[in-house]
Amino acid sequence: MSKAVELAQANQKDHLDELIEFLKIPSVSTQPQHDEDVKTAASWLADKMTKAGLENVHVVETAKHPLVYGDWLHAEGQPTVLVYGHYDVQPAEPFELWESPPFDPAIRDDFLYARGSSDDKGQAYIHVKAIEALLQANGRLPVNVKFIVEGEEESGGASLSAFIPQNKELLAADVALVSDTAMPKVGLPAVTYGLRGMCYILMDIKGPRRDLHSGSFGGAVNNPLNVLGHIIAKLKDENGHILIPGFYDKVRPLTDEERDLMAKFPFDEEAWKAEMGAPEAWGEPEFSIVERLGARPTLDVHGIIGGYTGPGGKTVLPSTVHTKISMRLVPDQDPKEIARLFTTYVNEITPPSVTVDIQVRGGAPATISDLNNPAMEAAVSALELTFGTTPVFMREGGSIPVVGEFQEVLGLETILMGFGLPSDQIHAPNERFYLPNYYQGIEASIRFFEAYAK
Ligand code: BES
Ligand code: ZN
Repeated sequence: MSKAVELAQANQKDHLDELIEFLKIPSVSTQPQHDEDVKTAASWLADKMTKAGLENVHVVETAKHPLVYGDWLHAEGQPTVLVYGHYDVQPAEPFELWESPPFDPAIRDDFLYARGSSDDKGQAYIHVKAIEALLQANGRLPVNVKFIVEGEEESGGASLSAFIPQNKELLAADVALVSDTAMPKVGLPAVTYGLRGMCYILMDIKGPRRDLHSGSFGGAVNNPLNVLGHIIAKLKDENGHILIPGFYDKVRPLTDEERDLMAKFPFDEEAWKAEMGAPEAWGEPEFSIVERLGARPTLDVHGIIGGYTGPGGKTVLPSTVHTKISMRLVPDQDPKEIARLFTTYVNEITPPSVTVDIQVRGGAPATISDLNNPAMEAAVSALELTFGTTPVFMREGGSIPVVGEFQEVLGLETILMGFGLPSDQIHAPNERFYLPNYYQGIEASIRFFEAYAK
């Protein structure tokens, strides 16, 4: 066993304590009341990266939340790995559904419960600890590394997206390494080779100038909430087909080969059903669940704010309704074009009795990685050595916007070596991280850097 892996194993207690400290900082990037916490998390991380032995560590101010950069570039003749992660987290609401407070980490069984434990503080921190162990064990790294950790991933990643094209030299590398995905189950590691893209929409429907009495006005004034119902009903049919004209035009058809591969994926349908907890699975009948999740686009309404929702009844015709909608995209859909198609269609189906305002917030293309890459071999061997079994290749339904930019702007392939589990409850109450995956993640990261050296 490598000396670095031995060291990492000996230091598990410290690794856990530090992660707990990190998780106590409520770095929710979408909520302005947490802006200071986001800053605190950035400097906390920068400090730990310096202590781990990374050099040139600095917190980069941006238009919104800071980025944290650090590098170690003394492995002459060796390739350079750009490690990416995000230290921001999703909002923790509704708080009352947490069994222990979201920012007061608690261990139950082998799980560490806290917002961000799996997505992505725990996973991002894996690589900091791996670097530290390698430097402590050998005084040097087998490859060159650069870290770029962002604080805005969960809110669209605009600042990093602006930073990349202006800092191509600084971020130049041979491959990107990201741990922000999941493995199918305990003991079965995975390399994710596809991510869905995203087009996020904020939509306001306005009717009367102010709220109206529904008796005095109802029946003669259109109600924005009722209109929203009609619009939503026209976006998608009851089998999950999206009804926006042109939406599927650019979707790259699945090859028979890939459908075969997806059919062979060790998908545990029963476990998945138990996890999702709805009466039954649903979606495009002509595609399997694995295909629906990883390789088909979709559209979902995430939130509606409008009308009266307090206790008791209130007979009001609301003036305005706000809606949040996203579309998950697949290759080769273009997020900008999809936003245009959505806008044109919704304008067409909106009756003249209301006005609609559509704002596009965040777009990212879907990505597919090249499996024939030396870094891919290194990832496979690192996971195999660590977990004692060959990793599976999978496509993920979630999105990591920066991966497309690494590909397009920096020309980098990304290795998505994730240590989450489908039951981690990311973005939901009681998010958790399986601690053995945290420790094995650190070992796998060490072995990845070792295996990737020439
Ligand atoms: N870590 C997730 C992506 C992910 C989700 C990987 C599920 C594996 C399983 C990431 O932090 C995330 O949630 N991304 C957002 C991006 C969006 C806000 C642009 C997502 O997918 O909703
Ligand atoms: Zn994440």
